[in-house]
Amino acid sequence: MKKFTWSLFTLVFLMLSVTAQNTLTLHVDQAETKINKEVYGHFAEHLGRCIYGGIFVGEDSPIPNTRGFRNDVIDALKEMQIPLLRWPGGCFADTYHWKDGVGPRENRPSIVNTHWGGVTEDNSFGTHEFLDFCELIDAMPYININVGSGTVQEAAEWVEYVTSSNESPMTDWRKKNGREDPWEVKYWGIGNENWGCGGHMTPEYYADLYNRFATYCGGAKYKIVGGPNVADYNWMKVVMEKTMRYPWLVQGVSLHNYSFAHSWEVKGNATGFDEAEWFSNMNDVRRMEVLIKRHTAIMDQYDPNNRVGLIVDEWGNWFNVEKGTNPGFLFQQNTLRDAVSGSITMNTFNNNAHRVKMANIAQMVNVLQAVILTNDEKMVKTPTYYLFKMYRVHQDATLIPSNLKSEAYEFEGQQIPALSSSASIKDGVVSISLSNANPNKEIKVELTITGQDLKSGTGQIITAQNINDFNDFGQEEKVTLKDFKVPAPKNGKLSVAIPAHSVVLVQLK
Ligand code: AHR
Repeated sequence: MKKFTWSLFTLVFLMLSVTAQNTLTLHVDQAETKINKEVYGHFAEHLGRCIYGGIFVGEDSPIPNTRGFRNDVIDALKEMQIPLLRWPGGCFADTYHWKDGVGPRENRPSIVNTHWGGVTEDNSFGTHEFLDFCELIDAMPYININVGSGTVQEAAEWVEYVTSSNESPMTDWRKKNGREDPWEVKYWGIGNENWGCGGHMTPEYYADLYNRFATYCGGAKYKIVGGPNVADYNWMKVVMEKTMRYPWLVQGVSLHNYSFAHSWEVKGNATGFDEAEWFSNMNDVRRMEVLIKRHTAIMDQYDPNNRVGLIVDEWGNWFNVEKGTNPGFLFQQNTLRDAVSGSITMNTFNNNAHRVKMANIAQMVNVLQAVILTNDEKMVKTPTYYLFKMYRVHQDATLIPSNLKSEAYEFEGQQIPALSSSASIKDGVVSISLSNANPNKEIKVELTITGQDLKSGTGQIITAQNINDFNDFGQEEKVTLKDFKVPAPKNGKLSVAIPAHSVVLVQLK
């Protein structure tokens, strides 16, 4: 009998420890940091078919459009609730001379897009078109100024042309070009990747240039200094040290980080991959957490009051281009893997909301980890589109501090946490995002929520039959957003089983 009691005790103990392996505790009573909606921002560069064909087809196109902008794309972006759009680059930004892109289209000069495929850019999509498009999709514009090959005067005049309500040669020209009132453009990036395609500068030289440009761009309310490439902590340190001598000149500092199936050198294919490439991508996206923590620690030294935002204005998966497409166009398909690994990154942004004030996925249409793909008149909403649609609940919500304990997802001797999560509260509704990177196993998570009386739950899920499923033109969607059954919480507790390779949203009130 004694032996039996002991075995029973051991069994119960073992069962409890197994079930308690995956837990998520949420402290609603400690929620105080806003998750800026700008964290769910996008990026559109004059690259491949992002602008031309993806957004803009011209008024005479047989593709249904409003003033030349694709109606299907406008509708999809509004439904997804796009908060912000960065333009015109990227590397293109440091070759772009904005005056080429205003005034009557027939008078605009054509240039060669030297960074992306060497194609002719006819400048038919310029400042007015970009800002008109932002108004149509109800997104805040974020303009990136040319430092690499531009002048201070050109930059200052662009800001004046766009934002000033005073009378001046620039504002007169704007009015002559059809826009009476200034636009509301808060965000201005001054240079892009000036350690690379933006001029191959040293951080010391760039920081001095930044101070010079920023001094004359007074109308730009929120100025963003070009920050580091991935883990270049010295760049962050030098740029913070030199620009923060004039704190009124800098409101944000950018960070660029892309993820791969293998590495920058061996990117892997966007589709048709195996579990090894699934695992390594899930592992690679976790670098974002380390980068944010380490760059934030440097920023803290120069900006202890947390005034300057970390602006992750380029992030996403970068795979090989699709076979038969122009290598300079960076066109890739988008699978369930993009949604699951994207959710890990978005959870990281949410959980670091005190410093991460904006993020822009690269890029919005037809380039890299796009939310929309187009092929002439056809359009596809990618798994990443559905991820953004699902995560819109976190826009301008308040982050709920949380503590996640996850079992490991092990593959060929390597381990990463299987689960990723973040949570927020808005209008009394608690929204919890959870993803399971393990493609072979459903994982049960015990949730404990303190500080809020919750009675009912609803849910949504993104998953598919196979890890490399994607949505193709003219075919039924394989990856989309579906309803997910959530049990009602009891005394602040509930247990949710997160299916293999899925992203789940639990909403409680
Ligand atoms: O998003 C594609 C390119 O990646 C951008 O133009 C550049 O800024 C980055 O290197």
